[in-house]
Order: sequence, then C-alpha cells, then structure tokens
Amino acid sequence: MAKLHINEKLRKDRIEPEVYGHFAEHLGRGIYEGIYVGEDSDIPNVNGMRTDVVEALKELKVPVLRWPGGCFADEYHWKDGIGPKESRKKMINTHWGGVVEDNSFGTHEFMELCEQIGCKTYVNGNLGSGTVQEMSEWVEYMTFDGVSPMADLRKKNGREKPWVVDYFAVGNENWGCGGNMNPDFYGNEYRRYQTYVRSYNPDHPIKKIACGANVDDYRWTEEVLRTTFNYAEFAHGFMDGLSLHYYVHPEGWEIKGSATDFNEEVWYKTLNKALYMDTLITRHGKIMDKYDPDKKVGMIVDEWGTWYTAEPGTNPGFLYQQNTVRDALVAGITLNIFNKHSDRVKMANLAQMINVLQAVILTEGPDMIKTPTYHVMHMYRHHQGADLLSSDLSGVEEVGLGEWKVPKITESVSIDKDDVITITLNNLSATDSEDVEVLLVEDGYKVVEAKIVSHEDMKAHNTFEDPDNVKEVDFTAYEYKNGNLVISMPPCSVVEVRIAKE
Ligand code: AHR
Repeated sequence: MAKLHINEKLRKDRIEPEVYGHFAEHLGRGIYEGIYVGEDSDIPNVNGMRTDVVEALKELKVPVLRWPGGCFADEYHWKDGIGPKESRKKMINTHWGGVVEDNSFGTHEFMELCEQIGCKTYVNGNLGSGTVQEMSEWVEYMTFDGVSPMADLRKKNGREKPWVVDYFAVGNENWGCGGNMNPDFYGNEYRRYQTYVRSYNPDHPIKKIACGANVDDYRWTEEVLRTTFNYAEFAHGFMDGLSLHYYVHPEGWEIKGSATDFNEEVWYKTLNKALYMDTLITRHGKIMDKYDPDKKVGMIVDEWGTWYTAEPGTNPGFLYQQNTVRDALVAGITLNIFNKHSDRVKMANLAQMINVLQAVILTEGPDMIKTPTYHVMHMYRHHQGADLLSSDLSGVEEVGLGEWKVPKITESVSIDKDDVITITLNNLSATDSEDVEVLLVEDGYKVVEAKIVSHEDMKAHNTFEDPDNVKEVDFTAYEYKNGNLVISMPPCSVVEVRIAKE
C-alpha cells in the first residue's frame, strides 16, 4: 500500500487559476465550427458563439484563453480581422491545411468569446512577420480609452470601451515557425517590441510573455534571458513570463502514433513522456533562477498536451484526434506536475481547446461531446487559486513495460480559502489497482467530495454515439482504517478526493 503524507500546516505557493488555461488557434475546426458558427447558423448561438460549447467551458471554469496562435500568430495581421465581415480579407491558412481563412473571427469576436466564457484574455502578437507599429497599434486598439487613431477605429467598429488584455505574448515559437531566429536575435527583438506593448490601463497592466524554449532547448532559455536581462535592470513590466512548449508524441515527432489504437507498452511510453514535463520545468526553472531569483517571471507552459497522428479520414493539417483514458492520465499527471511547481509555473494552456490535439471538446455539426481530458480538468478545477500543500508519497512501486517505467501513483494536494483540501491522484498502472493511505498532521478530516475518471479499457473514449463512455462519476472506493483514509484506486484512473474538518 502506498502512503500519501500531507502536511496541511505547510502551505506553499498559490496555484494560479491560469495554470488551468486553454489555447485556441486558427487551426482546423478549433475556432470555426468548434466555437464560432456565425450568427446565422442553425446551431444555437449567441453572437455567433455556440451555446453548448460556451456552457461546457463555463462549467470547466476556464480561467484564461490564448489566441490566435500558435504558428498562425506570427502570420496574423490583426487589421484583416476587424470591420464589416463582408469586407474582411480572405487568406490561405498556409500552416494548417491550406484552407481559406475569411477572418470572420477576429479581435472583437475573441473578446466576445472571453466575455461569454468569463475568462481572462491572452493575445499572442506577431513578431515573426509583423512590425513593431502593427503590434503597438493592436494593443492601442484593444486597450486605449481616449482619443487616438486606433481607439477611434475601434469605436467606429462598434466597440466604445476598451477591453482588458491580461496577457500579451511577443511572438510564438520564434526559434521555428515564428521566424527561425537565434536566441540572442530574438532577445533583442523582444526588448524592442515589448517597449511598445504599452499598458494604457493602470488598473490592468498587460503581462508580457517572451517566447521561451521548445522542449529541452536549454540554450534558448539561457541566451534569451542573458540578452534580455543584460542591458537593463529587471523591472516589473519588462517581462512577466517566459513560455515553454512541450508535446507528448508517443512514437516521436515523425510517426506520432494513433490516438486510439495502442498497446500496453505505448501506454507506458506515453505516460513516461508526460512525466518528462517535471524535468523540463525543473531544468528551465534553474536557468530562470539565475536571472530571476525572486521568481518574478512566471514560466508559462502555453502549449502542452498529446499530439497523435490525425484521425484517419480527416485533413492531416487540422490535427483532429480522439481522446482516451490515456489522455485523461496525461492530463492528470501534467496538472499535478504544474501544481507542484506553483512557485514558478504561473500559467499553462492546454493545446488545444476544441477539435484540435488534446481537446476538451469535440464537435460534429450540431453535436458536442466532452472528452476524458475535459472531465479531468473539471475535477481538478478545485485547485484553481488554492495553496499548494506540502505532500509526498512513499511505498510507490515502479510499473511499466521494457524501458518505459513510471511510478504507479502520482499526486498533488492543495487547500482552498475555506480550508477544504483537494487531493488529486493518478494510478498509472494499466492493469493493477493500488491502495493509498492518506496521512495528515491532524485528525478529524472527513471526505466531502470524491470523483473519478477511469475505465477498465485503457483505449476507452467518447464518441458521438456513446458520449458518456468515459466521464467523471462519484467515487466511493474509500474507507477509514485505523482512523486513516484509504483510497482504493483502480488501474488507469484519475481520482479527486476533497476532505475538510467536520
Ligand atoms: O498547437 C499546434 C502548433 O504547435 C502551434 O501552432 C505551434 O505553436 C506548435 O508548434
């Protein structure tokens, strides 16, 4: 039996709600169809945003949404997406499937979507192919409250008051699709561009995010920070975050692997690769510590998740994939890792929200299903804004096949403002259950809520014919033995148990 030791007296850093953030790019059916169907659609909508999807996202407590990309961001010219829809420019989305982008979803629509969901806004600017002026004018258009060319243009387009831009990224993947830059070149460009990302609203200063590394490119992190920190004293408002991108490709970048057809070895390989997130955060974090020992700059993992071979019969450029219990485990494991690094990780954005990669929602015409990943993020929502608690496991065996070994159980624990403790546990074993005994400093805690996402078939997923095959259900497999809570976790499971003093 494994033991989970919790010190409820030892509070660590707050788990920022933004760690449970999302990402929606102009890619495949992520925005068009997935969320935006237009006002004239037969699918019920409010100002073009489909009602079923918005309701599901509200239930998820989406804290922040990143848009418009991804690689699309560094080819996006925001002025193409404002004004009367019939006169907006059409373009080919060269990155993603070569389809026509009609720009009917632009800045106004993004802000409307965030208002409907009730989430913060994270806009990704174009450094790769855009000018400083273009970036600076976008910020002015969105946030300036007064008389100015861009504020006047916004008003002419029907929006009197400025919006709040919570986060603004100065480029995306500028080591690759965002301009193939060297890190010192990007660092200098970051310094220049961010100068003109002005915070016009003193009540809501914009948090600026610099482009960070791909996976284990530690040199990028080092060089970007050296360049950006070298000639200026660090001051608040210069850089608030540095991004990190990491995707789990079970069979590597070239082959990737099927979303639904995999064996036990690939199960463990996938989970092993998901656990690598911990190493990445630790090692990039150590470099950040050198330049920013007080941890003022957040690590922003603004793209994470599984990336499989696209579903057979779909446009490979649309990155549409199914989502199984394996994805539920990847989500559970990764979110626990983020929680554990709450001192440094200040935002994370699952890639991507709807119909793309590890989506929480899939749509087909008027129908919508929630994926296993949705249900995990829903269970974990109680960590948002709570304080991380000191916790660790003992007596956990290693499981796996061949070279792909993983710990059988992973966990994280937080305490909220009402002193309710949320424990989230994963059983990574494909075959075996495990009992976990919970040991706290004080006695007297009782279970106030317990939920589980699991299935006896590790490949189980939801379809439009069977939408509730894998879902969050009440969990009852726990009991008190010698005064201690013992949780019996089935194989392939993600469990949430909330406890509080009576
Ligand atoms: O999320 C899909 C793509 O992955 C994004 O556009 C890009 O930033 C990353 O390479």
